[in-house]
This record gives sequence, structure tokens and C-alpha cells, in this order.
Amino acid sequence: MCIRDSYGVRPKIGVRVKLASQGAGRWKDSAGSKSKFGLFVSELLDMLDLLRERLHLTGAKKGCDRGQCGACTILVDGQRINSCLALAVSYDGAAITTIEGLAENGVLHPVQQAFIDQDGVQGGFCTPGQIMSAVGLIAEAQAMGDAERVREAMSGNICRCGAYQG
Ligand code: FES
Repeated sequence: MCIRDSYGVRPKIGVRVKLASQGAGRWKDSAGSKSKFGLFVSELLDMLDLLRERLHLTGAKKGCDRGQCGACTILVDGQRINSCLALAVSYDGAAITTIEGLAENGVLHPVQQAFIDQDGVQGGFCTPGQIMSAVGLIAEAQAMGDAERVREAMSGNICRCGAYQG
């Protein structure tokens, strides 16, 4: 199978990228079915465009498209990355978690629930990236219990609604 990517480039090199939702051994495609799958992508395709335009997983947002706002934050093998700066082919075989993969069996991830409970959603555009970054931060076990360090660790995620303390 040969698929044109969002740039209209026909892949010269077929690279299989497997995309996974959160959960050991479970794979979820954009339609929500749990099955392993792969696809061929151009070496020019970035992860954000792969997720949004090819797989229709639109939770990760395209804000600046240059690594400055964090709206596109996803987890790769549990680590936070800005997907707009990541070439998809570099993550062949990696476990990719987007905001769509956080809830389990209809139950929101505790960080998702905390954003709702604490009225942290604001305009919503940056929220998926904020949540993914917070989940990654907790997994990295850094800055826990230290508000200043949490702020620093979350500083790559910008909210344009002004949800900052004065
Ligand atoms: Fe990726 Fe802004 S869209 S950091």
C-alpha cells in the first residue's frame, strides 16, 4: 500500500509506524478499535500532521508549529514531546499516546478529571497539551510537591487565555 502524505509526497522509503493508545499491549486506531496496525509515511511527515491529518486524531493541537507553545504535546514511550517537531519516521515502533488514549473504559485519567474539577480548561485549545504534559511530568516523577518546579516543568505549555496568576 502506498499513501500520499499531507504534503502530497509519495513515500520513497516505506517506514512502518505503529501507534498505540495507553494500556499495555493494547493498540487503538483512530476509529477506536483495538488492533495493531501500521502505515507507511513519508520521511518528511511530522508526527503532528500524521496524527491530525492522516489518523484524524485531532486532540493534539497545532498552535505555533515550531516548538514554542506545547499545544501539540504527546507522549512517546511515556516521554513528553512536541509532536510538531518530531519526524514520524523517527518513532517507528514507539508507543504514542495522545489525549484520545488517556481515558480507560470510559473513565477519565485522573489528570483529565482534575482539570475539570479545578476549572482548568479555560478556552480549551491548549488543554490537551497541558494535560499530556502534566501526565508526562508525573511519570517523570520530577518536581513533585514543589509548586515552583512544577511551574518550570510546565513552562513549555502556553495558555493564551491568560490563565496565569498575576
Ligand atoms: Fe508544537 Fe506549538 S504546535 S509546540
